Amino acid sequence: MKIGLASDHAGFPLKKGVIVYLQENGIAYFDYGSAEGEKVDYVDFAERAIVGYQAGECDRLILVCGTGIGMTMVANKFKGIRATLCCDEYMAEMSRAHNDSNCLTIGGRILPVDEGVFIVKTWVETEYEGGRHQARLDKIAKIEDQNFKA
Ligand code: RB5
Repeated sequence: MKIGLASDHAGFPLKKGVIVYLQENGIAYFDYGSAEGEKVDYVDFAERAIVGYQAGECDRLILVCGTGIGMTMVANKFKGIRATLCCDEYMAEMSRAHNDSNCLTIGGRILPVDEGVFIVKTWVETEYEGGRHQARLDKIAKIEDQNFKA
């Protein structure tokens, strides 16, 4: 599995912690930015990472801003993205097991780095359960098909 990462300036310190976790665990990743010290708009970096994901450059996304809210809002505007803002391990586990989250969003100003990394670890390691949950995701996809042009 290859993970695509992106952050704005507010999410950068937590993204740095996530990168250490991925490196220590031999998980492949690509960092779509931003770089340290840049003051940027989360919108641009979410878009950059999602375009990469849609082109097949990575298998899942982790997006980090100050609260995680802005990244979530942008990501869920893109077809096929199931972005889930997770503030604790239970949300991270359920977002994978029940919602088949393909985009974890977290807040660098909300979570200490160690907690954020634990959320990432839980999200990375939890499998989607399928079964009864798939019909619900199919309903979301149908709404998406009715409302998105591309
Ligand atoms: C940046 O100041 C902040 O607004 C952003 O990181 C994010 O929290 C938006 O949702």
